[in-house]
Amino acid sequence: MTSQTNTAILLAAGSWDTEPWTKAIRAGAPNRPLHIWPDLPDPSSIAYALVWKPTEGTFSRLTNLRAIFSLGAGVDQLVGRPDLPDVPIVRVVNHDLTQRMTEWIVLQVLTHHRQQKAYDRQQANRQWKELSQPAAADMRVGIMGLGVLGGDAATALVRLGFQVAGWSRRPASLPDIESFHGTGMLNRFLARTDILVCLLPLTPQTRDILSMPLFEKLARDGALGGPVLINAGRGELQVEDDIVAAIEQGILAGASLDVFRREPLDKASPLWDLPNVVITPHAAAASVADSVVPSILNQITALEAGLPLENCVDPDASY
Ligand code: NDP
Ligand code: OXD
Repeated sequence: MTSQTNTAILLAAGSWDTEPWTKAIRAGAPNRPLHIWPDLPDPSSIAYALVWKPTEGTFSRLTNLRAIFSLGAGVDQLVGRPDLPDVPIVRVVNHDLTQRMTEWIVLQVLTHHRQQKAYDRQQANRQWKELSQPAAADMRVGIMGLGVLGGDAATALVRLGFQVAGWSRRPASLPDIESFHGTGMLNRFLARTDILVCLLPLTPQTRDILSMPLFEKLARDGALGGPVLINAGRGELQVEDDIVAAIEQGILAGASLDVFRREPLDKASPLWDLPNVVITPHAAAASVADSVVPSILNQITALEAGLPLENCVDPDASY
């Protein structure tokens, strides 16, 4: 039974503006005590921590914590922290965030498929020249990470007529999407892929996976003249020197990158100037407080009524 002294929320939103989150929490739970990190008069009163990249030590005095709610979909910044208490971690699974990610993925796939960077260069030179355009049906998109976000993007790309396959840890079954799983099937998945989309979580198994040996296994007989990489998962999935070398050597024909090993991306990074490379500032799919907070508050209400939490991280899988 939850005691009166153990119902408070702590908001620790890292470098994010706390104002919209505070407003949404106060609007949805006006009677629930709310503290904004680092203001913590009575740490033992905190039952729920709503966090994004919380500073080290955030959890160490929260002796009565019942659950941690990540304010984003990715939980790599939480899993494995030394100060993490033994409570469930809930991640964001949210229609608005999923929709935003699918928009970004579709935009990037179409940017490369429709050769938009080449048309941008032509426009800069006032050059009127139609380029040969393959059909979507001739383009093989492969999505690494066929979870909530990868699955939705895959479905949207199927609707646009692309040949879509996915690669996941366990077998998956989605209509019209060829499914590969596990390390044993990775090479076959890569060999049939012209446009590689990465929506994997960052875990010990996936760190550095987007590297030269993997790029060399992608299909080289596609209609774009070389494979393309699109990554919105996490920066630590990609070896950035290998991406630069692969573009320079023609092993990759282009890339769209939303995430980087160090953010913001260093102004001196060669990635900025490479041809056919799109850079966005970790903006593919933002968490919007008005959309995310109501479902967190509903989960808290459900938990206090004795119901199980949804969208919990599997500590063994790290995502
Ligand atoms: P999910 O947990 O729903 O999906 C993860 C997918 O990756 C699953 O299909 C899972 O397989 C697969 N996977 C995990 N580990 C492996 C592995 N070792 N080998 C093969 N497949 C693996 O996550 P989401 O789709 O919600 O989010 C994915 C990631 O997107 C987040 O972790 C985050 O890093 C990133 N993200 C980026 C944003 C941005 O703005 N750039 C915004 C939001 C999220 P299985 O299905 O078998 O479990
Ligand atoms: C997330 C992100 O994980 O914004 O939600 O990166």
